[in-house]
Amino acid sequence: MTNHATEHSKRPLEGRTILVTGAGYGIGREAALTYARAGATVLLLGRTQEALNDTYDLIEAESLPQAAVLPFDLETREEDPYVQLAQLIGQHFGKLDGVLLNAGVLGQRTPLDNYHADTWQKVMQINVNGQFMLVKQLLPLLRETNADASVIFTTSSVGREGRAYWGAYSVSKFATEGLMQVLHQELENTSEIRVNCINPGATRTGMRAAAYPLENPADVTEAADIMPLYLYLMSPASKAINGQSLNAQGEQAFVVPA
Ligand SMILES: NC(=O)c1ccc[n+]([C@@H]2O[C@H](COP(=O)([O-])OP(=O)(O)OC[C@H]3O[C@@H](n4cnc5c(N)ncnc54)[C@H](OP(=O)(O)O)[C@@H]3O)[C@@H](O)[C@H]2O)c1
Repeated sequence: MTNHATEHSKRPLEGRTILVTGAGYGIGREAALTYARAGATVLLLGRTQEALNDTYDLIEAESLPQAAVLPFDLETREEDPYVQLAQLIGQHFGKLDGVLLNAGVLGQRTPLDNYHADTWQKVMQINVNGQFMLVKQLLPLLRETNADASVIFTTSSVGREGRAYWGAYSVSKFATEGLMQVLHQELENTSEIRVNCINPGATRTGMRAAAYPLENPADVTEAADIMPLYLYLMSPASKAINGQSLNAQGEQAFVVPA
């Protein structure tokens, strides 16, 4: 292998611009760092500016390509802010090579007959409607890339088989799988944008601790350990993978090629 090829495989996202939602905490922060280490300019989207700034600082501390902080609330129901966000990205970066739609909320863990309607609507807005509104506005920027663009949605095992007491979260992840499939079919033969889902599996984050308060976090996989799939699916090496819903860990884990 030539030095050039070695360098390229070490930094498979060199020169690419990647948007990560929920980049201030948990899996999103780790993915943002992973993509920056792979050479990408990462656009850090999330609700809490301080948390995004902390991720930005982690990227700066490693002298990686300078990131950009984009505070944005996916609970926003009006379309205009999404249009403006896409315009801002277009003005500064001209294109997008990938999007990791990772932001999400858990909602309540309770039977449906106790579930608050307000919480239901909030979870569906953030986990489904906000993802649709964002990705819709980003499609023109994804089409601008000369490389293969990758869109990754984030699902869960409760989005493949319903589970009692997981309420809107479970339903929102079924919808996420559906959104991925619809978009994949629409784009399959018309563009170079590919669309997939990742199910991270049990991962040590704030959301996992909220869902399983009695669990010892030390027993749960760290976000860094599931990054090989996040990197692979964002990289040109996975160009043939399209319309899939892949597991990052567990018995059915996707085996990332060495
Ligand atoms: N951890 C697990 O075991 C596990 C398992 C299966 C699936 N998942 C999925 O993996 C993804 C990441 O989860 P995580 O465990 O890393 O959770 P997390 O640590 O709670 O992070 C969730 C992220 O979403 C952002 N977010 C929430 N509401 C938002 C809003 N209204 N607008 C913009 N950003 C918002 C949060 O930022 P702010 O706090 O600033 O809003 C945060 O950065 C989620 O889609 C989750 O459903 C996780």
